[in-house]
Amino acid sequence: MARHLITSAIPYINGIKHLGNLVGSQLPADLFARYQRARGNEVLFLCATDEHGTPAELAAAKAGKPVAEYCAEMHEVQSRIAEGFRLSFDHFGRSSSPQNHKLTQHFAGVLAERGLIREVSETQMYSPTDGRYLPDRYIEGTCPNCGFEDARGDQCDNCTKQLDPVELINPRSVISGATDLEMRETKHLYLCQSQMKDELEQWIDTREGWPVLTTSIAKKWLNDGDGLQDRGITRDLDWGIPVKKGDEDWPGMEGKVFYVWFDAPIEYIACAQEWVDAGKGEDWARWWRTDKGAEDVTYTQFMGKDNVPFHTLSFPATILGSGEPWKLVDYIKSFNYLNYDGGQFSTSRGRGVFMDQALEILPADYWRWWLLSHAPESSDAEFTWENFQSSVNKDLADVLGNFASRVTKFCRSKFGEVVPEGGSTGEREAQLVADLTAKIREYEEHMAHAEVRKSATALRAAWVLGNEYLQDAAPWSTFKTDPETAAAQIRLALNVIRLYAVISQPFIPDASAQLLEALKTDDDSWPDDVPAALSTLPAGHAFTVPDVTFRKITDDEREDWQTRFAGKRD
Ligand code: MF3
Ligand code: ZN
Repeated sequence: MARHLITSAIPYINGIKHLGNLVGSQLPADLFARYQRARGNEVLFLCATDEHGTPAELAAAKAGKPVAEYCAEMHEVQSRIAEGFRLSFDHFGRSSSPQNHKLTQHFAGVLAERGLIREVSETQMYSPTDGRYLPDRYIEGTCPNCGFEDARGDQCDNCTKQLDPVELINPRSVISGATDLEMRETKHLYLCQSQMKDELEQWIDTREGWPVLTTSIAKKWLNDGDGLQDRGITRDLDWGIPVKKGDEDWPGMEGKVFYVWFDAPIEYIACAQEWVDAGKGEDWARWWRTDKGAEDVTYTQFMGKDNVPFHTLSFPATILGSGEPWKLVDYIKSFNYLNYDGGQFSTSRGRGVFMDQALEILPADYWRWWLLSHAPESSDAEFTWENFQSSVNKDLADVLGNFASRVTKFCRSKFGEVVPEGGSTGEREAQLVADLTAKIREYEEHMAHAEVRKSATALRAAWVLGNEYLQDAAPWSTFKTDPETAAAQIRLALNVIRLYAVISQPFIPDASAQLLEALKTDDDSWPDDVPAALSTLPAGHAFTVPDVTFRKITDDEREDWQTRFAGKRD
C-alpha cells in the first residue's frame, strides 16, 4: 500500500474564494486524494486557512472585528463551504494555530543557528499615535505625481504610479489618521536564500517528471536578474507569529512578526500536528520526518502558478536550510488561471461566481465536474455559462444520468426492481467489457499522474461506451423476441452503473453515493478486474430506480445567472 501526503495551497482567510481559486488547488487536490484512497492507498490530505498578513488585518478592520475573532469566524465559513464542495481534507487547519507558532519559531531558530538568517537595518514609517510601524498599505497621502489625495503607500490608484511611502505628501496613518509620522531605523530578518542557490538548483534539477509549468517558473526565479535574492521574513504587524528563536526572545525583534509567506507553508507540517492533536490521527512524524517513516511517502502539492516560486524555492530553502530530516515535496502540480466570461474573476469587484453562491444555485457535483473537466492545466481556461450548461447537460445528464435512468427504469418495467436472471451474453457484451477495461486502465494512468483533464476525458469516454452499447444491444427490442437475452443484457448494464459509480467517485462523489444507494450495494471496491467487477450484482439482487441523478440547466436559468454574476457581488 502506497502512502500519499497531499496538500492544497492554503487559501487566504480574507473572504470567500471564487471558482478560479477552487479549481487552482483545493479541488484537483481533492480529486487526487479521493482517487488514491479509492485505490486502497493510505492518504493524508491537508489544507488550512492562511491567516496572517496585512490583508487579514485590513479585512478584519473593515468588518469591524478584532482580527483573531474575524479569522476564527472566516475559518468556520471556509470550512463549511469546503464541506459543501465535498473537499475531503483529513484536517482543515489554521496557520494561526499554536502548533504553527511553535514550529515556525523553531525553523527560524535553527536557520539562525546555521547562519542562514541575517539582520538588516531599514528605515520605516513609525506612528507614535498608533504605537507601531506602518506597513506600506497602512499609509495614505497625496500622490507626488498627480496630486490625488488618497494615494496608498505602495501605489497611487489614480495614476497607477508605484510609490514608496516616504514619497507621499502629507502622509497619514490609515489606522488612526495620525499625521505625526516619522522615519525610524528598524531591523528586519532576512533569509539567506542566495547562499542556498546551488543546493536548490541541484534539488530542482534532480526532480523527475515535474510539469514544465512548475520547473520553468522555478528556473526563471533562480536565474533571472541577480539570481535568488535574500528575502525579508519579518514584518511590523500586530497580528502574526511573534519573532522568536525557538523558545527564546530575539533581541531587537520585539513587537515584530514573521512574514506571512514564511509561516504559511510551515503550516503544511503544523497542520499534520493539528490533525493529531484533534484526535484524528496518531503520528504526524510518519508523514513528515524521513527519520520517522516518511521516506516512503509520496508528497504531492497542488497550487496556482503564482504560488510556484514559494513552493519550489522559498519553502524548500526553509526545509533544506534547517538541515533537519523533513520530507520534501516529490511532485508539484500547478495550474494556470481560470477566467470568467471574457474577463477575470475579481474578488474586489465581485465578478464571477464565488464558492458560496455556486452551491446556492446547484449541487457540488455539477461544479466539480465542469471545473475539473476544464481545469486550466496546459493554458488558462475560461468559464462561460454556455459551456457550463452544455457540459452539464451533455456529459452529466445525457450521458451518465440517462444511462442510469434508462437501464433501471427499463428493468423495473419488464423484470421488476431486481437484477434479472437467465440468458447469456454474446460478442457485443464481450466487446463492451474489453472497451471498458481499456478505458479504465487509461483513466488510472492519467489519475496517477494527476492529469486532471485527461482523466475527465477518459471517464467521460467510459460513460459513452455504456450508451453506445445500449444503442447497439437495444434490450427494449431484444425483449420482444428474446427476453432471456434481454435479461442478461440488463444484468450487465446494471453492473455497469455500479462500475460508473465507483470510478466516478473522485469527480462526483454525491452522484456516486446516490447510485450505489439506489443499487443497494456498498461494494465500492476498485475494478482492478473489470470482468469480475461487472458481475458484482448477482441475479436476484434488489435495487431501486434512482431519483434524477443530474438535471438539465435551462436556457432561462443560464441567462439569469449570466446577469446575476456579471457585476457586483450582492
Ligand atoms: N494563501 C496563498 C494564496 O492563496 C497560498 C499559500 S500556500 C502556502 O495564494 F504554501 F503558503 F501555504
Ligand atoms: Zn497619482
